[in-house]
Amino acid sequence: MRKIETGDLWWKNAVFYCADVETFYDWNGDGCGDIRGMTERIEYLADLGITCLWLMPFYPTSRRDDGYDITDFFGVETRLGTLGDFVELVRTARSNGIRVIIDFVMNHTSDAHPWFKSARRSVDDPYRDYYVWTDTEPPDTSADVVFPDQEDSLWEHDPKTGQWYLHHFYKHQPDLNIANPAVQEEISRTLGFWLQLGISGFRVDAVPFLFARDGAPGDPGAFDPYEYLGDVRNFVTRRLGDAVLLGEVNVEYEDQKSFFGGPDGDGLNMQFDFIGMQRMYLSLARGDAGPLADALRERPALDITSQWATFVRNHDELTLDKLSDAERQEVFDAFGPDSEMQLYGRGLRRRLPAMLGGDERRMRMVYSLAFSLPGTPVLFYGEEIGMAENLDIAGRLSVRSPMQWTAGANGGFSTAPARRLTRPLPAGLYGPERVNAADQRHDHQSFWWFIRDLIYTYRQQPEIGWSTPEILDQPHAAVLAHVCREPSGWAMVGLHNFGAEGRLVPLELPDVAPGSVLVDLLDGRGEFPLDDRGRIEMQLDAYGYRWLRVLRPDEPPII
Ligand code: GLC
Repeated sequence: MRKIETGDLWWKNAVFYCADVETFYDWNGDGCGDIRGMTERIEYLADLGITCLWLMPFYPTSRRDDGYDITDFFGVETRLGTLGDFVELVRTARSNGIRVIIDFVMNHTSDAHPWFKSARRSVDDPYRDYYVWTDTEPPDTSADVVFPDQEDSLWEHDPKTGQWYLHHFYKHQPDLNIANPAVQEEISRTLGFWLQLGISGFRVDAVPFLFARDGAPGDPGAFDPYEYLGDVRNFVTRRLGDAVLLGEVNVEYEDQKSFFGGPDGDGLNMQFDFIGMQRMYLSLARGDAGPLADALRERPALDITSQWATFVRNHDELTLDKLSDAERQEVFDAFGPDSEMQLYGRGLRRRLPAMLGGDERRMRMVYSLAFSLPGTPVLFYGEEIGMAENLDIAGRLSVRSPMQWTAGANGGFSTAPARRLTRPLPAGLYGPERVNAADQRHDHQSFWWFIRDLIYTYRQQPEIGWSTPEILDQPHAAVLAHVCREPSGWAMVGLHNFGAEGRLVPLELPDVAPGSVLVDLLDGRGEFPLDDRGRIEMQLDAYGYRWLRVLRPDEPPII
């Protein structure tokens, strides 16, 4: 029986796909991806089976942080298209069953934003209080900067007025003063504007900086950032009842709790599981499921109206900041030993296939795991074909090379001369001649078809997104055995082998109805009866993975 809230809380079992307009598909042949190109490729995304497209920033920008440095919250960067193109994209997506969410970046503006240009003119400027200023020389904040290769302070001295302004990220991204009611008005106006154009919600950038406001000086007065987060959520929900706020909150699990909302609508609906992601890489490096199993045991249980977003890779450095120094070093040693593969001393600038030396068994195991965990999976463009990074591109942008569509020139991304492309494509083992969407779509054994099957299997079991995980004890350190359970009695066992040896995995599910069988959802729907105490032994290959639905005798067969 389907839940009544399934439609309203569509994001509980959606499949998200993050793409950057600039690097997806170039429709007009100028070397830069554009919104019309994205629209052209909606059919591809619909066929892949994703249900929600997350667009990275496409606003007018000073282009110093790949669009996260915005100069106008109400527009579209000219190179990428127009607002008209945007509305057509949203409508085309929607008619193909795909919702669109967009990046919401109001922790800061670009220093070229008209508000900041005005604000820095004088201490009495009407926009002065849109930003955060201090008169006195700030203390040493070099340990707190987000980008230590470029910045050494959270404050920048502005010679014109002799004050310092706050910037958690680059100095060209001054932080907005969200305690200021005028800024709050601007935030509401911006959220309202884009909702009116048909989107389904926002990926909220840099939430702990935006809402927790650590480091902001002066008397915050009566301003309570969490209460304000609730106000934002309420505003968004009033404008669009089923809108989603998916937040970037890379803090410890305990601290994530205060950013989630509940039935009263007082916070984010979803947060990325950064801790689970980092521990997953440690498990991979060790060939030991233990670190991930511990994370899943520690992960806070959520209210039914909240959700974890599970991901393997995002658009930034693959951050390992929440591991200990020794653990991080283990992951570096295994997957990014050269200093050019590392970034900021805390992360890797590689994509998974290259990290695993192209071992498709391990790649498949990792994505099977990501889709089988209670939560909502989020893919980053190109993951579905096993794209790697291009280390020739500086910094975090190494993983934002153009999408590889065909084996032809520029990987089919653009007809422009290669020198005019937004960014260069990788050559060699992971170049478009060997890794591209067109070839894989025509080969049913390909990685693309594997991901597509995972997506459809996930969508056929919407309960996964509504379930809670439980780790099953078993004797092999390399094997993660977890059960997803849902209050209706639905249950599914996931088996994932981080080790290079096949294993016989003993399972015991004492609380299932007598006569239940395990149905293999990924491999031919084979059925395996449990004994009268709910026990069975299942074979798991080297780096193997299985999704085993517990089918009670009173349930209809799985079709
Ligand atoms: C977020 C984005 C990152 C960006 C930063 C500043 O962390 O993911 O790409 O540079 O915010 O906006």
